Amino acid sequence: MTTRHLDAGNPQHCQEAITLLRQGGVVAIPTETVYGLAADASNPQAVARIFTAKGRPPGHPLIVHIHDRTQLHHWVSHVPGQVDRLAAQFWPGALTLILPKHPSVSEVITGGLDTVAVRVPAHAVLRDMLLKLNTGLAAPSANPYRGLSPTRAEHVLAGLEGRIDAVLDDGPCALGLESTIVDLSGATPRLVRPGPISQQALEQVLQERFENDAGQTAAPGNDIIHYRPRTPAYRAEQNLIKPALDEYREKGLRVGVISVDAHEASRHGPTPHRWLQLSADKRSYARDLYHTMHELDGSNLDIILIQEPPSTADWLDVINRLEKATNRIQIEFGWQTILPE
Ligand code: TXA
Ligand code: MG
Repeated sequence: MTTRHLDAGNPQHCQEAITLLRQGGVVAIPTETVYGLAADASNPQAVARIFTAKGRPPGHPLIVHIHDRTQLHHWVSHVPGQVDRLAAQFWPGALTLILPKHPSVSEVITGGLDTVAVRVPAHAVLRDMLLKLNTGLAAPSANPYRGLSPTRAEHVLAGLEGRIDAVLDDGPCALGLESTIVDLSGATPRLVRPGPISQQALEQVLQERFENDAGQTAAPGNDIIHYRPRTPAYRAEQNLIKPALDEYREKGLRVGVISVDAHEASRHGPTPHRWLQLSADKRSYARDLYHTMHELDGSNLDIILIQEPPSTADWLDVINRLEKATNRIQIEFGWQTILPE
């Protein structure tokens, strides 16, 4: 299959993406969080093609993207009272809600669960498409199963070229990390995945405390191993980066580093092959993290080292992704033990 590279700034290209989706195709679409791999949510055969393209096991549920709150009743059997308050504050935006599913929602989307995840995205081009399509779009992140999420069209193509009908290119995603997911199907709201909208902000709006598991409860498809670059990646406290670099360089390994600190050759000893600096500002860091990881992953390195992010609550989404994407170098195990096979 030839994957069409469409330009979101070109109305004809947007129309082509809509036509492909209407015909049951799979199209990678820009959102404000990460690129999604979309199919018509009312067409189970189309949705099944998402799983084939990604190599995602069946039973891993997908998010349904809708244009606005008024379409919820097509997908959801019961709308709990908290939804209006959250929607008023955070939709359109990076918030996904898990709700009791409408009987008509295909189990290909829900993975056989009796709940469905729904989000009203903020991305202008996508919103216009949703309006014209007048249906929901089922869309996971547009990466091969367990791979790094894409924040640019070229990341999508690097992973899925030839396996999808098209990618609609709208440049870099504004937020760069996946949406916050909250489960409202139980007695108490539960954070399933931390994201750009913080638990504190959500609790403030609902005036209700969440079940306090900080997204640790396993959800289907919410694996321990996830968001992995192909290159072995490790995170390390700042003071371990230099000794680890020394070790790897001695062994002739090609190393890339992602750090909020600027590279100083004198302080860090041997120079890594690549040193990419990210902002210490959380929003900018989150926006650029996947892109930076994709860049190092394409640089023919043996190891990627990522400086541990701050352990404060506002960094929870970044911490969550890095914990799944990397193993941690700990002094007691010694960095010698983490050499790739
Ligand atoms: O920002 C985002 O959320 C992006 C963009 C494209 O919207 N989408 C995204 O989708 O990150 P995905 O499939 O990569 O991650 C969705 C997560 C998965 O871990 C899935 O298991 C979980 O949501 N999920 C979906 N429906 C669920 C449900 N009914 N119950 C529990 N978890 C669910
Ligand atoms: Mg994903």
